[in-house]
Formats: sequence, structure tokens, C-alpha cells
Amino acid sequence: MAATLMDGKALAQTVRAEVARDVAALGVPVGLATVLVGEDPASAIYVRMKREACAEAGIESIHHELPASTPEADMLALVEDLNADPRVTGILTQLPLPEQIDEDHVINAIDPMKDVDGFHPANAGFLFQGRPTLVAATPSGVMEILRAYDVELEGARAVVIGRSNIVGKPMALLLLAEHATVTIAHSRTRDLAEVAREADVLVAAVGRADTVTAAMVKPGATVIDVGINRVDGKVRGDAADDVREVAGLLTPVPGGVGPMTIAALLRNTVRAARYQSGELAFPLA
Ligand code: GUN
Repeated sequence: MAATLMDGKALAQTVRAEVARDVAALGVPVGLATVLVGEDPASAIYVRMKREACAEAGIESIHHELPASTPEADMLALVEDLNADPRVTGILTQLPLPEQIDEDHVINAIDPMKDVDGFHPANAGFLFQGRPTLVAATPSGVMEILRAYDVELEGARAVVIGRSNIVGKPMALLLLAEHATVTIAHSRTRDLAEVAREADVLVAAVGRADTVTAAMVKPGATVIDVGINRVDGKVRGDAADDVREVAGLLTPVPGGVGPMTIAALLRNTVRAARYQSGELAFPLA
């Protein structure tokens, strides 16, 4: 039987409407600063979508575009300005950055309370400790899809393919917090197909089309496809087409995880504003 597709697009609309109500009820201005460095076309599209989502939710969008040749010192100076600007309650520097700018230096410079990506070591550390603050948007969005479709996680076997700081690692920690038995697989995992086939919940966050095939999926498993790959002008996930014939639930690409990432970013932006207004206590303050 073909998999039921998990409608991230519809769920994201619901979340975005909820965020808009939260923003209106908050009583303090919410502003997201986006920083785009260089000319990467995919990054430009992502940032535009994030800004449009902000506008729709009543969040002010404060956008900075810098040339690809920007020295690291200039980038760090901009981050310092944004940290000090009360109009800016969230800061997002779109990755990847050009090679002369060390991404860790930039991430570490962002005020942890404004770190809507959840990439700062303080926020990553709080997640590690099991007391999440601002959590990376893609894995947060995945958890919201899993909740919406009542996917049982307690005691379930979860396999995350991919070990990035942005998706794989925080994804594994969030699944662990819900009492799943979690395996992180990656490019050097031996017998990947066998490992993947153990999963009740399989998360593919590799960034290569057709990485997950039907033969790697336990019949009836939930497959979360985080991939956004451009192949012959089309957007494809990490899962091959035949996964639909085996999975029980599957996130389509497009229309699955992508829209939920943006919705989760908006949720984080509201949460960041709450930390700064003092409505929520930030554990470091
Ligand atoms: N590049 C790819 N994904 C992301 C993300 O979630 N946030 C930022 N800032 N850059 C990215």
C-alpha cells in the first residue's frame, strides 16, 4: 500500500496562523534580522521565504545583504550591532558563508537569546542537557510533524541518517528526549541499508537524492525526508520514488519538512522575543 503523505504545507499554515496570533498578543515588537552574504541562489530563495513568512506573521523583517568578499571582521561587527539593537529580537545569518568567514566565529558572536537558529553552543548545550531553549528549526519542525500525525516515539527505533550540527545531531537529541532508541548513521556507517531497515522512524538528512531506497525501509515505517536536492531542474528529497510503496507515512518533497522549517523558525522568533522581554527566563541570564 502506498504511504500516507504527511502534509507539512498545511500544518505549517496552521502554525503560522498561531504564531501571528502570538505576535499580536505579545505586546512587544518582534523583529528578525536576516543576513545574506554572497550570491548563492538557493540561500537567496530561503531568506526571501523566511522574510515573507515574517511579514505575514506580523514580525518585522530587517534584512542585510553583504558582498561575497565581506571580511570576517565586518560580518562580526554587523552581528554586534544587531545584538545591541532593541528592534532586532532575532538574528539569522544564512549558511553557508563564504570561506573567509568562519561560521563558528559568527555563530558564537550572536547573542544566545537572539539565536533563532539555535546554533549557538549555549543553545545546542541546553538541548544536549535536555532543557531545550531555542532549537534548530528543521528538527523542531520535524518533531511538530511527528506529533501532528501521532507517530509513536516512546520505545520506537529511530535512525537519523546525517550528523550535521544543523539537522542530524539536534534531531537525534529531540527524538531521544521523546524516549526513542536513536541511532545516528552517516556516510561511513557500515551496512547502512541494514541499519536503516531497523527504523520505525527513519530521518534522511543527507543532501543527496536517492540515498534512501525502498530496500532500506521497514514496511510501514515513518520516513522523514529532510533533503532538498536540485536534480535536472526539479526539487527532490533524499528518498527515492519507490520509498512511497513501502513507508507507512512519508513527508513529500516539496511540501513536507521545508514549510515546517520556516514555521519553526517563526516560533523560535517569538520565543526569542519572550526571552528578551523577560516573560520567559533564559537559563544563562
Ligand atoms: N542553511 C541551511 N539551513 C539553514 C538554517 O536552518 N539556518 C541558517 N541560518 N542557514 C541555513
